[in-house]
Amino acid sequence: MWGSLCAIATGPQAHRNLSLNANIFRQFCGPRETASTIDRMRRYDLRSDTLTKPSLAMRAAMAAADVGDDVYGEDPTVLRLETLVAQLLGKEGALFVPSGTMANQIALLVHTRRGDEVVVGEGTHCMQFEGGAAAAWSGVQFAVVGRGGLFSSEEVLAAIKPKAEHLPQTALVVVENTHNLGGGRVFPQSECERLAETVRARGLALHMDGARLWNAAVATGLTPKAMAAPFDTLNVCFSKGLGAPVGSAFVGSREQVRAARRFRKMLGGAMRQSGILAAAAIHALEHNLDRLAEDHAAARAFAALLGGIAGVEVAPVETNIVLLTLESADAHAIAQRAAERGVLVQAMGPRTLRAVTHLDIGEEATVQAAKILAEILSR
Ligand SMILES: Cc1ncc(COP(=O)(O)O)c(C=O)c1O
Repeated sequence: MWGSLCAIATGPQAHRNLSLNANIFRQFCGPRETASTIDRMRRYDLRSDTLTKPSLAMRAAMAAADVGDDVYGEDPTVLRLETLVAQLLGKEGALFVPSGTMANQIALLVHTRRGDEVVVGEGTHCMQFEGGAAAAWSGVQFAVVGRGGLFSSEEVLAAIKPKAEHLPQTALVVVENTHNLGGGRVFPQSECERLAETVRARGLALHMDGARLWNAAVATGLTPKAMAAPFDTLNVCFSKGLGAPVGSAFVGSREQVRAARRFRKMLGGAMRQSGILAAAAIHALEHNLDRLAEDHAAARAFAALLGGIAGVEVAPVETNIVLLTLESADAHAIAQRAAERGVLVQAMGPRTLRAVTHLDIGEEATVQAAKILAEILSR
């Protein structure tokens, strides 16, 4: 398995530049000037799996939720969700929070002190896409290791700073699984287990940003509990492929969850009758977990249709994210032309396009979208 990690980490895909650039920022945050044009035609929205809207059944579950004040610890639906998630991941406790960003930032606060260093892979969400929160709240800095979001225990070992007054102290290692910017890559389980041994032997902690842990579990056939076992704490999201409108959980030991509860309060994330939201997350876990395999199949079908086009390199598809590298075409111009024909994909850089399959776009529509994009790319 270690051999296969090396193969993934040093193959052609590994050299994708995962650093933040202005183009990614524009795509995430820029004006939606294409919306009026595409309103008139069928729209295939493959920009992200966060775009799903709650189904009628999910809304019914939310409306029927038994609620109380969760700041008093009295919301029965939130308590039910937290118990369910802790059991699913084999940990002592879980804390419902509004977002994956908050769960990750709470993890940094739980595991580190100001001035500490956190070891991460390239393009890791908690370093790159959380608005500089780590610098603002926990006051940590990052050491980036590996390629394409994957890294080995040897690379972590080499990055751990010796105890010295001049140096930041390494406190935590974060694994993102699946890796978003790396194209939905699954972090090999055997390497997670080796990382756990490495960090434990040095008194460090291991956190998983498992916003899409569910996709990794479905792709590998491992249980979420087995995948969580090497980690001290996790962030898991209900608002990505699972299709809930809001919500994530910070998961860990009883003591870590107690500390997390205080940080959630400090960050303004303690909510009142949040059982309405927790009900959506429970519905998502009960109905939308196994079906992620359909999103993965749709992603493979999408990739297959674009694979043979000259000047387009399609990264191997592991889960629900497809990354296309364009040899010479401008990714933003292609995304714009695709949007004009109703296909929304994300330009992640000057030469990179991303498409994400999800609950609200089935395989048939995904294939339709791929055909339209293939036409545009073939010209
Ligand atoms: C890997 C990863 N971690 C964390 C997050 C943050 O989640 P949220 O948008 O709920 O803050 C995202 C969001 O897409 C993500 O892709």
